Amino acid sequence: MERLDDVDGLARRRGFYWPSFEIYGGVGGLYDVGQIGLRVKHKLEGIWRRFFLEGLSLPMVEVETPLITPSRVLEASGHVSSFTDPLVECPSCHRVYRADQLLEAKLGVNAEGLGIEELNALFQKNDVRCDACGARLGGVKTFNLLFKTNLGPFTSDVAYVRPETAQGMFTSFKRIFEASRRQLPLGVAQVGRVARNEISPRQSLIRMREFTIMEFEFFFDPADLQAAMSALGDMAAESLNLTLADGRELTLTPMKAVSTSHVKTPWMAYFMEAALQFLLNLGFKSEEVRFVEKGDKERAHYSAQTFDVMIPTKRWGLVEVAGISYRTDYDLRNHSIKSGQDLSVSVTLEKPFLQASRRVVAHADAVRVDFGEHSGEVLAAISTLDPSQVGQEVELNLSFGRVRLGPRHFAVQVEERLVSAKKLIPHVVEPSFGSERLLYALLDRSLVIKEGRVVLALPSSVAPYDCSIFPLVKRDDMGSMAKRLESELREAGYSVFYDEDGSIGKRYARSDEIGIPVAITIDQRSLEDNSVTVRDRDSWKQWRARSSELAEILRRVLSGKSLISLGLEEFSRRPPKGKKAGG
Ligand code: GLY
Repeated sequence: MERLDDVDGLARRRGFYWPSFEIYGGVGGLYDVGQIGLRVKHKLEGIWRRFFLEGLSLPMVEVETPLITPSRVLEASGHVSSFTDPLVECPSCHRVYRADQLLEAKLGVNAEGLGIEELNALFQKNDVRCDACGARLGGVKTFNLLFKTNLGPFTSDVAYVRPETAQGMFTSFKRIFEASRRQLPLGVAQVGRVARNEISPRQSLIRMREFTIMEFEFFFDPADLQAAMSALGDMAAESLNLTLADGRELTLTPMKAVSTSHVKTPWMAYFMEAALQFLLNLGFKSEEVRFVEKGDKERAHYSAQTFDVMIPTKRWGLVEVAGISYRTDYDLRNHSIKSGQDLSVSVTLEKPFLQASRRVVAHADAVRVDFGEHSGEVLAAISTLDPSQVGQEVELNLSFGRVRLGPRHFAVQVEERLVSAKKLIPHVVEPSFGSERLLYALLDRSLVIKEGRVVLALPSSVAPYDCSIFPLVKRDDMGSMAKRLESELREAGYSVFYDEDGSIGKRYARSDEIGIPVAITIDQRSLEDNSVTVRDRDSWKQWRARSSELAEILRRVLSGKSLISLGLEEFSRRPPKGKKAGG
């Protein structure tokens, strides 16, 4: 029997998510997001946009680029050669495993990032055997995680489904830069689907073959430390719980993490702190959020430093909901080289400066007088003199003999030029959130069991609906009042879940299970005095309120106030107790 605290069970039962193509037996790593889950996912994306793209007072834009990506793009980015996992296939029954994960499960060692030879040695030394048939395993190979396809009818036009949204933003960076204010820093964001052909998809929404990423590439000038440090200084600094690649655990402010060089660039620390604040807004606690640095062998090929953002789940332990990587100029530089296009940008300097330059200028008239028919050769020789080396006089071996030139023939002029712009290939810090993982972590931490029932205590900002509305019994008069209130609240901008089927207890249970923070019930008294009951999902307490107050009550609840604090008249009806999760 399904356990009440099983998030996947609740998700299937209540329309959050379920395995795709179930009628054909399902496919590992592919999930549908259902009608309730999608509402929460959209809210998460909305909060992510508001927080990162609008809330940080940084120049950020959002774009949408294709899933299908020509091979040459992913060759340039390094994904065709490096986006691989180690695979081991049973020689007897042909079951395949991700080699490092199998070793981790069987031997309890962290084998992520080990080379093929190191993995093979571990298989051999520990006599690792196939779970299915017991045959001895070995012969680890690399397996590329890209889903391959063709563009049009030609098999030579190889393309892949994108494994990250990032490459579309790198390849169009120059156009985005030119269509915006042509200044750094500039954040370019994208929310979209990506696909990775995982060898062993597992842990429900945690390791999927297709999923949504919310990420941005933050392009900046690495020499402009001032901009990053002042942004960092302006932040409310909650300390970061760091686990460094060498295993040390430290809790540091982002500023300290930079000054001690544990974090390699100030923008990285800035976005680690921003990620923490974003998660706090979603109800996670600061002590739950851990930034785990990836070791040299575990990091993606493009990264100079990566911290995974981990939060605990009851079922899967620490789960990575985001990765923050310092991609340097790796991607833009490689795309510049491979495409032959100059992806550097020219940016206006905040502090223009005078730059002195020297040049050698010939006195042509004197040269002509002194060298007659050879003056052309002499003038050409003067034009090649190095202004940084040449003194007042110079001796040259020319075709007609050795000549001595002096101030009569040339001068070194010093010119000062105002430099107000510079060219550079920007560096990039990339915060990348997995939408479904975040959805899973939220459901996991919100699911509570209260008196044998499931209550999903989601923060009201991500609840699938703002409130539910129930006529106490299915009667025309109560139904029409409930419908009228439903449309009034919708017009006021609230999302409403209307339900008139089944007993009121079952309807409360359904509403609690999908995490709706407030339930409004229309009963006999409502018809008489226009009052309704307002019920709090988490405490199950109820209050009486005038129907005209509902929009204001919802506004306050959604801004984080509890119903308890609103001073309404408490009401005593309690839902009937039940042993099972809703009906
Ligand atoms: N772009 C981030 C990732 O591939 O995980």
